[in-house]
Amino acid sequence: MSQERSDTLVLFGATGDLAHKKIFPALYAMVAKGTLNEPVIGVAFDPWDLAKLQARARDGIVNAIGSIDEKIFARLASLLRYVSGDYRAPATFEKLKTALGSAERPLHYLAVPPAMFEVVVQGLEQSGAAQGARLMVEKPFGHDLQSARWLNRVLHLVFDEKSIFRIGHYLGKEAIQNLLYFRFANSFLEPIWNRNYVESVQITMAEDFGVEGRGRFYDEVGCIRDVIENHLLNILLLLAMEPPVGRSADDLIDEKVQVLRAIRTLTRDDVVRGQFDGYLNEPGVAPNSPVETFAAVRFFVDTWRWQDVPFFIRAGKSLPVHATEVIVRLKRPPLDVFDPIKPGECNHVRFRIDPQVAISIGARRKAPGDDMVGEQVELTALDDSKGDMPPYERLIGDAMNGNGQLFTRQDASELAWRIVGPVLGDTTPPPVYAPKTWGPAEAMAGFGPPNGWINPAK
Ligand code: BG6
Repeated sequence: MSQERSDTLVLFGATGDLAHKKIFPALYAMVAKGTLNEPVIGVAFDPWDLAKLQARARDGIVNAIGSIDEKIFARLASLLRYVSGDYRAPATFEKLKTALGSAERPLHYLAVPPAMFEVVVQGLEQSGAAQGARLMVEKPFGHDLQSARWLNRVLHLVFDEKSIFRIGHYLGKEAIQNLLYFRFANSFLEPIWNRNYVESVQITMAEDFGVEGRGRFYDEVGCIRDVIENHLLNILLLLAMEPPVGRSADDLIDEKVQVLRAIRTLTRDDVVRGQFDGYLNEPGVAPNSPVETFAAVRFFVDTWRWQDVPFFIRAGKSLPVHATEVIVRLKRPPLDVFDPIKPGECNHVRFRIDPQVAISIGARRKAPGDDMVGEQVELTALDDSKGDMPPYERLIGDAMNGNGQLFTRQDASELAWRIVGPVLGDTTPPPVYAPKTWGPAEAMAGFGPPNGWINPAK
């Protein structure tokens, strides 16, 4: 595979939800910046014509950004093509081959249900459309270790690893990039970034909405597979990894893989699951479904740096706020020289990932007045997100340029499934929690970082 930029984007699942909500707005933004000039061939089962696909793209863009610049949209519309047909039919791929014309290095983006991955990849190979191509695959990448291995084997029959881009959009977020940058572009963190100073790490991804019409999809995955095994575990890796030795994609991913190798395989004692009251009434959800909509999970990273430091991840639907945040809590000073410091009121580093982007240092200072009594303050570097590039825009651009830094490599994807494997598929009904609360209170009692959870503010 050459390092040259892909010369056509082929979007499988072009009439689907993801394309509508995220991919067309990303393509529009790329056209606006002049970073997309290649043809975009939509492929899907629906017997639409090009005009209908263009109208659908327009609708998705207007929904996402509230308005549209007709000149920019006309440019995007002129790049679009549409091929309709069944992914199982060779004729569909013949039509695609014709639409590809003289393209030599297409990027095939599978924004389709995972059950379709294999059949599409085979169609690409048999038609010759896989020749010289790259492949981008949406999450979920498998549903356990065995299926991920199988899928990797299937993809490798046609594409080599360097040509495969497994996408989890979280890695394309500005705040996640910032976390990595902040860790390794500053020297003051390094002396304290270890088991001698860090008491615990907690990562919370709270969503104040339910499954929003995705009941059928969600009921097959649940919270651990949906966001913990991929998005949030990736944040943990960025917090725990050693500095990469170079700037290449493999340099970065090699360090993440070292952490994955050192993470203990979970047991059921490492997890508290919950289900929000009302989930069972969601369309598409099985009667008496035991699927969790909330999970809190404890990880340990058995390395020289992190031995015995608990890393907690907590995520859920129908929680009180919509926010993703990381707190790295430092151990308290050895003595209370002035006033007694309450447990949990010591130093921390807070990375706010969503909806705002911010990095804060939590510290104590003397409160104004006569007494040597302190108060808790935060020094914050707030990023107002100007110039932020939405994840899909960044990731599609990277995949077209063959830059795999923000994608998941085969070994990383399989190691992640190894870690969570034993806690998947629990058929015990999880405890129910009331919507707009922080999960099942009774089950969560006593489960969490020493000195407790810090709930993100709105
Ligand atoms: C997706 C999950 O991968 O990430 C969703 O399937 C979740 O359930 C979403 O809501 C969160 O991503 P973001 O970027 O909207 O916070």
